[in-house]
Amino acid sequence: MKREQWRSQIGFLLAAVGSAIGLGNIWRFSYMAYSYGGGAFLIPYLTALFTAGIPLMILEFAIGHERIGSAPLAYKKIHRNWEWLGWWAVIFVMFGIVLYYTVIIAWCLNYFLLSFNLGWGGDPNSFFFQKFLSMSKSPAQIGEIRTPILFSLIVIWFINWVIVFRGVQKGLELANKIFMPLLFVLTAVLVFWALSLDGAAQGIKAYLRPDFKKLANPKVWIDAYSQIFFTLSLGFGIMIAYASYLPEKSNITRNAYLTAFINCGYSLFAGFAVFSVLGFMAKAEGKALSEVVTQSIGLAFVAYPKALSMMPGGNLFGAIFFFCLVVAGISSSVSIIEAFTSALIDKFGMNRKSLVSVISILGFVGSIIFTTQAGLLWLDIVDHFITNYGLVVVGIAECVLAGWLFDIAILQRHVNKVSSIKLGKGWVMLIRFFVPLVLGIMLVGALYNEVQKPYGGYGWAAIALIGVNWIILTILAAVVVAMRPWRTELHKKGGRG
Ligand code: ALA
Repeated sequence: MKREQWRSQIGFLLAAVGSAIGLGNIWRFSYMAYSYGGGAFLIPYLTALFTAGIPLMILEFAIGHERIGSAPLAYKKIHRNWEWLGWWAVIFVMFGIVLYYTVIIAWCLNYFLLSFNLGWGGDPNSFFFQKFLSMSKSPAQIGEIRTPILFSLIVIWFINWVIVFRGVQKGLELANKIFMPLLFVLTAVLVFWALSLDGAAQGIKAYLRPDFKKLANPKVWIDAYSQIFFTLSLGFGIMIAYASYLPEKSNITRNAYLTAFINCGYSLFAGFAVFSVLGFMAKAEGKALSEVVTQSIGLAFVAYPKALSMMPGGNLFGAIFFFCLVVAGISSSVSIIEAFTSALIDKFGMNRKSLVSVISILGFVGSIIFTTQAGLLWLDIVDHFITNYGLVVVGIAECVLAGWLFDIAILQRHVNKVSSIKLGKGWVMLIRFFVPLVLGIMLVGALYNEVQKPYGGYGWAAIALIGVNWIILTILAAVVVAMRPWRTELHKKGGRG
C-alpha cells in the first residue's frame, strides 16, 4: 500500500496552518493579550513560541517524516512499548476535543444565519444562554437536544466527512487551498472595516498598551505556554500524521517556522478586529472598555452580537465574522479526524472511505451530548481536562521518548539533511530538558489547582464522572488498541534517517 502524499509543499503548509488556526486564534489570543499586559504579553508569548512551540513543531514534523507514520506507528518505531501513547493522543482528540469542537462550529453556523437579520434581538446574553442553548443548571440535568444546533451539527459533520473521505490531496489539501486564502481575505476585510469604526482606536490602545508589571505574575507565563501549545495543535498527533505524507525532500524546519509565524501573526491580526469592535461598542454605550470585554464564548456569542446590532451594516459584518469562525474551525477539525483516520489505516490497513464514514457517524453521535441543554457544561469540563492534562502529558512524553529513549541525533541529522535552517545543540537541549520542564511545571500547577477545589465550581461528582473518566477511558481504549496485532507490515520498516 502506497502512503498518500501531499501534491505540493504549499499544500502541506496550508493544511498545517489550517490545523493551527482555529477557534482559539480568534477569541482566545486577543483576550489573553489584553488581560495579560497588552503589548507586553508579546514577550512571554514569543518566548513560548521560540523556546517550546517551534522546537516541538519541528520535533513532531521530524517524527512523522523520519519515522514515516501517524502518531502510534511513529511512536512504535521509536520505542516498541510506546505505541499506546500515540493511540491515546489520537483517541482523546477524536473522542474528546473534536466532539465538542464541532458543536462550537455548529453554533457559529447558527449564528452565521442569525446574523442576516440580527436574530438574537435586543438582549444577546439571554438569547444565547436561555433561548439558544436553553442551558440547564447542572451537568446532570441533560435535558433535551437543541434541534437548531443538531441540524447545524449534521451539516458540519457532513463537511468534515466529505473532506477527510476524499483523502490527502483531493480532500485536505484542496479544502485548505480554498479555505486559508478565503479566511485571510475575509479577516482582512473585518480588520479594515473594524478599524474604521468610531472608537476603534480606543480599543486598539487597550489591546496593545504595554503593561510590563503584569509579567511578574507566573500565571501569565504558564498561560502563554499553554496557548502556544493549543494554538499550534501540538500534542494532538496531527502534525506527525501530516508530516508523514510529505515526500522525502521536504524542508522541515522552514515549514515549521512558517506554520508557527503565520498562525501567530494571524492571531495578532485578528485581535485588531476584535478590539476595534469592542472599542466601538464601549464608545457607543459610553462605557469603559473593561466593562465590555469578555473572552471565548462570551465574546463571540454575547459581546459581538451586541456590537453588531449597533453597527451600521452589522449583519454583513456578523455574517463574515461567523463564517470565518466556521472556516477556521473546520480546517482544524478535519485535521483531528485525519490524525485518527491515518493511525487506523497505518495499523489495520483499512479502506479510507468506509473507515471515514464510520468514524464520522460515530463522531456525530458522540457530539450529540454537547447539543443538549447541559452541553456547554459538559464541554467546559471535558475541554478543561483534555487540554490541561491530555495534551500536556503527550507533549512531555513526546520529548522524553525522542530525547531520552531514542537517539535524537537520528532525527536531527535527518532534519538537517533535508532542511534549509539547520538544527544545532540548542534544539536538542530544548527538547531534552527545557520543554519537558516547562510542561511539567504546567502540569503540576494544574494538578495543584485541581485538588484545591473542584474545577469551575461543578462539584466533585461531575468532575470525577465526566472529566476524570474521560481521561481514564481514553487511556484504556488506547492500551487495548495498541495490544491488537498489526495487520500491515509498516511497523517493521525503519525510518528515513
Ligand atoms: N489549533 C486549533 C485552535 O487553535 C486547535 O483552535
